[in-house]
Amino acid sequence: MSDIGAIQTRLVNDIAAASDLDAVEALRVAALGKAGSITALLKSLGGMTPEDRQAQGPQIHALREAVTAALAERKAALDAAALDIKLAAEAIDMSLPADTAPKGSVHPVSQVMDELAEIFADMGFAVATGPEIEDDWHNFTALNMDETHPARAMHDTFYFPDRTPASSSAAVGQQQREILLRTHTSPVQIRSMLDQGAPIRIIAPGRVYRSDSDATHTPMFHQVEGLVIDKDIHLGHLKWTLETFFKAFFEREDITLRLRPSYFPFTEPSVEVDVGYSTEGGRRVVGGHGDAPGHAWMELGGSGMVNARVLEFAGLDPAEWQGFAFGLGIDRIAMLKYGMNDLRAFFDGDPRWLAHYGFSPFDQPTLSAGVGAKA
Ligand code: FA5
Repeated sequence: MSDIGAIQTRLVNDIAAASDLDAVEALRVAALGKAGSITALLKSLGGMTPEDRQAQGPQIHALREAVTAALAERKAALDAAALDIKLAAEAIDMSLPADTAPKGSVHPVSQVMDELAEIFADMGFAVATGPEIEDDWHNFTALNMDETHPARAMHDTFYFPDRTPASSSAAVGQQQREILLRTHTSPVQIRSMLDQGAPIRIIAPGRVYRSDSDATHTPMFHQVEGLVIDKDIHLGHLKWTLETFFKAFFEREDITLRLRPSYFPFTEPSVEVDVGYSTEGGRRVVGGHGDAPGHAWMELGGSGMVNARVLEFAGLDPAEWQGFAFGLGIDRIAMLKYGMNDLRAFFDGDPRWLAHYGFSPFDQPTLSAGVGAKA
């Protein structure tokens, strides 16, 4: 056997015996790398006589091809073996019970918003929306709260550092406006009147923001606004609408409302809406007359007849149109209905709280099946 034949036999045997991919790579470098033994043989061809080159050239090239093929074969075999080991280790036993995936639930605030929309839709109310980042004209001025109104104070309202640029469409023909997080859903009244004119029958549920924090106040909370504008609307319509809503919402006929004289700049007259309740087992239960023994009144929101100045700001003629508006705290009515006692827990995002108080996504409120959750 020639020298080259011996080299080939040794290298091919070594490669076939390589125990892992690193060993294969080391053999490749030793033979075919820059300073490899076969590379050196190939280089030596240049210094040979033409006769020697003719004799040895084909043998050296054949050696390179044989070693290259042996390397590829060993590498493929080792790769396949590694894959077999991996597959064996990862075998899936289809007969094992599946891991339980955490189940999401609908937040009580979302559930109550769906309940509200369902009940008010039945009374002919559409759902309107407005921006949470508002300007002070819609949030205050057009609601008859002028520059000196205390609710505008920095400690009550979250302002953005910038005002509207004088060139923006919101500021055309107006002074520059302050930009803020809306403090109530009432600016949606203004936007709805300006956008669609009268008559109007809308509710506007959504997030609002104030610098408030204790067990019954949070810096972000939810309100639902109601607005009805038409030709012959009076306070009796307001009382009937809220009473009908609360009866459907709390699923009790013995709901008693008390309209208590109050003041809001954007309504005239203004009334606070109270509901009678009793306490059972440490939990407030809505129902009954607030003056009856063992009962009391609880405030759920504000309301009144839309102030004529607000109608004018929103482009409606108060001699022709009038209406009522109300604003209720959604979180408050959710707490009352479903028995939670700390408002802050609503927004902690604790999955244990959500698992306890949340609702199944299949528990859609409908008037026919009942808007109360079946949980
Ligand atoms: C208003 O916000 C008026 N815009 C309501 C209104 C609308 C009156 C239309 C007339 C006509 P008030 O600040 O009282 O009013 O808030 C209304 C309700 O929101 C309160 O009764 C309460 O249920 C809820 N609320 C107020 N502040 C908080 C808070 N920090 N956290 C949770 N709920 C709150």
